[in-house]
Amino acid sequence: MTTITSPFRTDCLKGKVVLITGGGSGIGFEVTKQLLAHGAKGAVICGRRQEFLERSASILRKETGKECKWKVTDVRDPKACVDAVEYTIRQFGRLDILVNGAAGNFLAEAKDLSPKGFATVMSIDTLGTFNMCSAAFPSLKHNNHSTDAPIIMNISATLQCPATHWQAHASAAKAAVDSLTRSLALEWGEYNIRVVGIAPGPIKDTPGTTKLAPGMSSEEVNELIGAGVPLGRLGDATEIGHAAVFLATSLYTTGTVLNVDGGEWLYKQPM
Ligand code: HXC
Repeated sequence: MTTITSPFRTDCLKGKVVLITGGGSGIGFEVTKQLLAHGAKGAVICGRRQEFLERSASILRKETGKECKWKVTDVRDPKACVDAVEYTIRQFGRLDILVNGAAGNFLAEAKDLSPKGFATVMSIDTLGTFNMCSAAFPSLKHNNHSTDAPIIMNISATLQCPATHWQAHASAAKAAVDSLTRSLALEWGEYNIRVVGIAPGPIKDTPGTTKLAPGMSSEEVNELIGAGVPLGRLGDATEIGHAAVFLATSLYTTGTVLNVDGGEWLYKQPM
């Protein structure tokens, strides 16, 4: 097993407060861990399943020595999103980093996809991202242009570059998320809010990847999918966490979507 060492200072996000949807598992869990491990003072992780959140928050507290709270939130519900932001402010007094990591997905051919199935993924990924951004806007906005700008990070994908079989719903949803990233970066720069995307490629042992090859072992999945990646391997969730730390500290970056996929997207046709 390879250990991935951080190139960043462990206090580079000193004092920051994080609110992250989908923080209870997979990539969201690791992003939270890395933000806390690099100085953030606390985090609120959100998701739909209380038992996952409780367990993950407890592990994150133990592993980072930082405060980690949880709030059950379905991002499809705008009121629940406002509640999550208010809870964060009550707990920590501020909000600096919003990560929209909540996503729903399954494999289905477009011909078998019901309108409700399509709408469900659009609602979680796209509408959910918008709901959280809207809810957080009043707490994130500033009237000055200090270099200490709050940031929104939208977790995207490369499925939509330009198309992936059995993923019409998730591809449409993530393409819309990328568009939202650019629009909000354009409009909210005035309020000193940066908005960026992170597009992970295949990341080992996460729901997004294991779902693509049901019934296969982790090693088999790594070998099969890794062969289609220029860097020859699947990514590690820690590498997505480090990309999040990089974007959080890259203070003149906004509106961009960073592919963190070992170059997998290069095999795909240009848009
Ligand atoms: C076809 C399906 C389906 C499936 C659900 N639906 N699963 N259709 N194949 N496997 C349809 C249902 O039939 C229903 O439509 C509609 O979707 C809503 O289903 P519900 O189960 O009622 O919705 P809900 O309980 O809200 O579940 C949401 C979900 C669920 C997205 C459908 O699967 C989920 O939350 N999954 C876990 C989240 C997840 O996998 N996260 C990882 C994302 S990774 P009808 O018309 O039948 O009523 C990611 C990155 C991608 O996004 C990158 C990959 C490399």
